[in-house]
Amino acid sequence: MSPLAGYTNLPFRLTVREVGGLGLATTDLVNARSLLEKNPKALKLIETSAADKPLAVQLFGSVPQEMRDAAQYLESIGVASVDINMGCPVRKVCRVGGGAAMMTELDKTAGLVKGMVNAVKIPITAKMRLGWDEENLTAPDLARALEDVGVAAIFVHGRTRQQGFSGTINLRGIRAVVEAVKNTPVIGNGDVTTPEAAKKMFSETGCAGVSVGRGAFYNPWIFQHTLHYLQMGELLPEPRFEERVRVMCRHLDLMIEVFGEEHGCRMFRKVAPWYSKRFGPANEFNKSVVQISSKAEFEEVLGTYVRWREQFLDENGNLKPRFQPAPLIASFMQEPGVAGRREIPVPKGPVEVW
Ligand SMILES: Cc1cc2nc3c(=O)[nH]c(=O)nc-3n(C[C@H](O)[C@H](O)[C@H](O)COP(=O)(O)O)c2cc1C
Repeated sequence: MSPLAGYTNLPFRLTVREVGGLGLATTDLVNARSLLEKNPKALKLIETSAADKPLAVQLFGSVPQEMRDAAQYLESIGVASVDINMGCPVRKVCRVGGGAAMMTELDKTAGLVKGMVNAVKIPITAKMRLGWDEENLTAPDLARALEDVGVAAIFVHGRTRQQGFSGTINLRGIRAVVEAVKNTPVIGNGDVTTPEAAKKMFSETGCAGVSVGRGAFYNPWIFQHTLHYLQMGELLPEPRFEERVRVMCRHLDLMIEVFGEEHGCRMFRKVAPWYSKRFGPANEFNKSVVQISSKAEFEEVLGTYVRWREQFLDENGNLKPRFQPAPLIASFMQEPGVAGRREIPVPKGPVEVW
């Protein structure tokens, strides 16, 4: 599962792990210096539990010593691997030489990674975009340089920094990274919202694994369903409304456990609307769920919504066809030229420029 700052916290990771099929999960990006300073926010980002394994922590930073020391600290507390953020386009991160800026300075970046690889036994991985912009597709060169210094795997989001989240995933661009390295596993990433899209990502890029970000938010079942599809060649049916509600409630319970009732509920205000995207008509739910501050309020909102939603059901309790949400289709599974119409939304808020 790809890092999604503000979302891939312990409750979400546990929720998806319980649904099943998830291999490696990672934290949101964590500032290496803040971690070394034991900043409470940074420590909260790496909070984990016995069921949350294997877990990678994603670090960002551009000071070699800090990145090395942070990796050593993470190794000492039992983290499975450390990922380095080289793809983040946010100005705040790039300005200090972190995130996507690392893709523009190959030697410096390779040096930083080498220091980390040599300092720990756990795998060090890197997550990058295809390059800074269309004219500078540096990912293959960077991947080769990182392979030479011992990086354990490379995650590639098939877009440039300049693209942000627009346009289609460039599968050929990911393939170029796969072909650039000798034996380092490359994990393809971007716009995978269905098992078929994951399969296409594997077959067209030759990647060793696929990583899913926003698709997991829409659909925490994606890992389980993709695994089943790849192994058995069979598509499992979409989960029913009741199952979606069950998992959403479990997610909220875990949020409350980890963040406390009021803070957990407030944080859940931006989470619940992702679940409701697959509920069918949900404007009533979305309007009121963004005001909850307690579990009791959430339950009331949900109860009212479930009764309101009945008007859209047939006699078997299924959504009438015209109210069913459109099937999810990954950008790169469509005819060229129509990709823009079905872009996966990027959550609003401070992260909208990701
Ligand atoms: C809200 C949001 C937060 C993100 N946070 C991070 C992050 O902390 N570190 C990172 O490397 N990528 C981050 N990304 C990029 C994702 O990991 C991923 O590469 C990108 O969303 C494409 O994959 P997807 O289409 O499966 O979501 C973020 C993306 C979004 C939408």
